Amino acid sequence: MVALLVALALVICAAAATCLHPRDTTAVSLHFGYSREEGPLTWAGIPSAHNSSADWSVCRLGRHQSPIVIYTDTLKPLPPGSVAVAISNVDAGKALLENLGTTLEVAGLMGVLKYGGMGYDFQQLHFHTPSEHRIDDEYFPLEMHLVFKAPDASLAVTGVLFQLGTSTTPNPLLTNIFLNLALVSNPHTNTTTGALDFSALTHNLTTTPSLFSYNGSLTTPPCTEGVAWFVLGEPQTGYLDVELYNAVKGVMKFNARYSQNGPGGVNLLELAREIGNNGTVLTSPTDIRFTSVQNWNFVKFYRRLVSIVYS
Ligand SMILES: *[C@@H]1O[C@H](CO)[C@@H](O)[C@H](O)[C@H]1NC(C)=O
Ligand SMILES: *[C@@H]1O[C@H](CO)[C@@H](O)[C@H](O)[C@H]1NC(C)=O
Ligand SMILES: *[C@@H]1O[C@H](CO)[C@@H](O)[C@H](O)[C@H]1NC(C)=O
Ligand SMILES: *[C@@H]1O[C@H](CO)[C@@H](O)[C@H](O)[C@H]1NC(C)=O
Ligand SMILES: *[C@@H]1O[C@H](CO)[C@@H](O)[C@H](O)[C@H]1NC(C)=O
Repeated sequence: MVALLVALALVICAAAATCLHPRDTTAVSLHFGYSREEGPLTWAGIPSAHNSSADWSVCRLGRHQSPIVIYTDTLKPLPPGSVAVAISNVDAGKALLENLGTTLEVAGLMGVLKYGGMGYDFQQLHFHTPSEHRIDDEYFPLEMHLVFKAPDASLAVTGVLFQLGTSTTPNPLLTNIFLNLALVSNPHTNTTTGALDFSALTHNLTTTPSLFSYNGSLTTPPCTEGVAWFVLGEPQTGYLDVELYNAVKGVMKFNARYSQNGPGGVNLLELAREIGNNGTVLTSPTDIRFTSVQNWNFVKFYRRLVSIVYS
């Protein structure tokens, strides 16, 4: 595996500082947020509210939406080495940290992810606070998303969960990504990062025994499905310095979409709409499509309703 990673790294970039590529410019121009009427409950309606022809309806109709709660008693991790990730290191001043208003994002890096015979090119990395994915219902203070795109435009995203730590040697990758954080405290500003070394993180992604994969979506509009997710379920203990976290949180505020139904389960907004309209959502017991990564209290409640209605 080490040999494979070295080979990948050579393909990506012989001299890191000379092979930067510009960020994808097909950015979403419609405005969305995380609070009140701009928040995730109403994302699907934002295009029509602005007379846009964009289609965000999968945010409220899709049945493979992200993020989810990963229940480790039912979703088994991939065998270590299933995924190979390499991201080129860069010198100080060579990568850009941008405040997009909805997240803090690093652009201008090169990398690849290989999985199941597919190769995906690195696009950007960005952050969410608190974490979007949860493990056995628990959330984490910060989640980093590394976004990769295949030649056929399909996406693979890795979610890396961070736990707060009191270590005297805080993780250098996070420290250097946010080196000039104070310069991007306002939306639509950018600055440079310190030197970024991804080798420890990519080594962990490749060797960890707790990498969870599922078929989901973008966690922001347009909520596009068919995204191959890889969530590093073992929190990076001692990884995130408390003071740095507080500073990052002060800039990003809150940008986590609520947990979606498990893959294949009916979209929770559809379920809520039907409950609101009809008082109950039951047509027949066979309509119930709860998957293993579902909220079991709700399943129990729902089954009880079924037994009452159909008894
Ligand atoms: C959208 O179109 C309607 C009808 O043409 C118009 O009344 C409304 O002001 C428009 N809204 C925006 C945000 O442009
Ligand atoms: C970064 O900010 C500067 C202004 O400070 C602006 O000219 C430049 O276009 C920005 N770059 C990106 C990639 O947004
Ligand atoms: C890699 O994972 C180990 C636990 O398996 C953890 O202690 C370490 O902090 C991780 N390192 C990085 C750079 O993520
Ligand atoms: C992933 O889910 C989408 C629906 O959102 C489906 O079209 C696609 O076939 C699924 N892919 C895999 C590999 O299961
Ligand atoms: C809820 O109402 C819709 C619209 O009238 C109807 O199509 C659907 O069958 C109803 N669902 C139930 C469970 O009664």
